[in-house]
Amino acid sequence: MKLRYKIANGLMITLVLATVALALVLSHSSDCEPVPALTGETTTMKAIVAQCYGSPDVLEFADIAKPVPADSEVLVKVHAASVNPLDWHFMRGTPYVIRLFSGLGAPDDPSVGVDFSGTVEAVGKDVTLYKVGDEVFGGGNGAFAEYVLKKEDSHSFVPKPDNISHDQAAAVPIAGLTALQALRDSGKLKAGEKVLINGASGGVGTLAVQIAKSFGAEVTGVCSTRNLEMVRSIGADHVIDYKKDNYTQKGLQYDLIIDMVGNHSISDNRKALKPEGRMVMVGGGKGNWIAPFLGSINAILWAPFVDQEIISILSEFNSDDLNTLGELMRTGEMGPVIGSRFGLAETAEAIRHSEQGHARGKIIIDIN
Ligand SMILES: NC(=O)c1ccc[n+]([C@@H]2O[C@H](COP(=O)([O-])OP(=O)(O)OC[C@H]3O[C@@H](n4cnc5c(N)ncnc54)[C@H](OP(=O)(O)O)[C@@H]3O)[C@@H](O)[C@H]2O)c1
Repeated sequence: MKLRYKIANGLMITLVLATVALALVLSHSSDCEPVPALTGETTTMKAIVAQCYGSPDVLEFADIAKPVPADSEVLVKVHAASVNPLDWHFMRGTPYVIRLFSGLGAPDDPSVGVDFSGTVEAVGKDVTLYKVGDEVFGGGNGAFAEYVLKKEDSHSFVPKPDNISHDQAAAVPIAGLTALQALRDSGKLKAGEKVLINGASGGVGTLAVQIAKSFGAEVTGVCSTRNLEMVRSIGADHVIDYKKDNYTQKGLQYDLIIDMVGNHSISDNRKALKPEGRMVMVGGGKGNWIAPFLGSINAILWAPFVDQEIISILSEFNSDDLNTLGELMRTGEMGPVIGSRFGLAETAEAIRHSEQGHARGKIIIDIN
């Protein structure tokens, strides 16, 4: 064999072995360690913790140390939290690639939950923007707990409008930011345009329908039979029952498609888009490895060859957008649909419900 073939073979074998080794490391789940014991003097709080990756069975309703704010931190007493698919992706550590950030084998941080609304209970000595008693909402690690600690300048929480309940505010952060950023930033939605929202009855979808209406768009919501009336009631001009109809085959064309489901191919979606329309992919394939990324990969592959814009997004926390969502709630232009409620001790049940993929609006965890 020529030297260059030997080198190529050697490289190929090394690459395959490295890929297999990485796959084994990423997919390995360690056994669940017990929640660390506390000393007698520790002030405690109730919280949901995951000491290992796995199904909702790994979630424990535990007593852990109540956090104490550092100089630039704010301690928030959580009144309500809400569940997002993100919570069970981190609970399971899937797709496995997220373990590169959340911890190999077991989560680095056992706390669970992100979206919260609550009241500032204590502030560090350098905090100037917030004071004890302020009502705030946003996102923070470990929202499924009686208290959450936030850095004052994290830009991931803002004052809660007075006329909004903690349940309503907790329902909004991740789903609302995603809907807003998909419609406004990626989708560039303008008044008078036609937008189709696939997955209109879920957490992101119910807020996307209302935000799109607030932009002056003509909105079509795709959902199942049991949710048609609800999606109409929050402002959709048209509804399509996905159990009976396939929106990609109706001969209708939209300026913008926001896709929370990923159940139609890009080529089918393009048939439902105007020649210079945009498609924003928010949610998609299920699976532990490549499937969740196929939508984004396809978007990149299609982009150079079509006039229509195919965009995949990852939403981000920022205080300007949280304030925009707060204002939409304050004025009544957007009101979250709360489909189900659970107590903090029942969080595992709430996450099981979310994992089934048919939540109506948002799932709330009532805490205090
Ligand atoms: N890219 C990002 O930054 C980002 C941010 C947030 C969420 N996400 C992803 O976006 C997706 C939606 O999130 P979510 O919080 O809205 O989830 P969710 O609250 O669990 O909502 C799921 C909804 O999907 C609907 N659905 C299921 N199958 C459908 C189908 N074939 N056609 C139309 N609708 C269908 C369900 O309605 P029925 O009960 O009527 O079936 C349900 O209302 C998830 O995959 C999530 O991971 C991505």
